[in-house]
Amino acid sequence: MDVSFIKSAFDKSHYPPPDRPEIAFAGKSNVGKSSLLNVIVNRKKMARTSSTPGRTQALNFFNVGNGRLYLVDLPGYGFARVPLKVKASWGKMVELYLKSRNNLKAVVVIMDIRRDISPDDRALIEWLFEYNIKLIPVFTKSDKLKKQRRAARLRDLKKDLSSISPERPILFSAHTRKGREEVWERIEEVIKI
Ligand code: GTP
Ligand code: MG
Repeated sequence: MDVSFIKSAFDKSHYPPPDRPEIAFAGKSNVGKSSLLNVIVNRKKMARTSSTPGRTQALNFFNVGNGRLYLVDLPGYGFARVPLKVKASWGKMVELYLKSRNNLKAVVVIMDIRRDISPDDRALIEWLFEYNIKLIPVFTKSDKLKKQRRAARLRDLKKDLSSISPERPILFSAHTRKGREEVWERIEEVIKI
């Protein structure tokens, strides 16, 4: 798949022109946002991944499919060691983006299959609802659990998610690439609308 990095942006004046549909990827620090992006575009290192949480601090824009679409790697939230001031600016930066980006078609909200849905995840999902942006929920790191445990977690998380969103979650793993096709199907679906 043809893909190129466009730019990192901290504020609105630095976003590329909103001249094509855009899909953003959000989630807690270290949840696997950049890894998921790399899998869906078939690149080992398009988006930077790291074992240091909080690595992606800006909004990173990528161009895919011959300029058909922008994908945006959003900075992670809920990283305890980030200073308070940075936390506040994270919220502002991301909320401003969600609020003002009118070519944004959906946000893929990435959560860890092993963890409960956090207050930050809920706040983000509420923002999406408020701003009328489609949600594509993903539970990642599914390779970290054995089959039975995975099924049990998925059942519990689905139930929990259903109280805040009607969207069906996708089970994903950046290691096995499970769920890659489903993420694309969902992206194609929201772009068509
Ligand atoms: P920040 O940008 O720092 O917020 O992190 P991120 O959400 O982009 O996470 P990143 O993709 O950098 O992954 C964080 C760590 O989790 C890395 O060590 C990845 O190798 C690992 N990881 C990501 N996805 C998976 C997965 O599906 N399975 C497993 N086992 N590990 C994963
Ligand atoms: Mg990242």
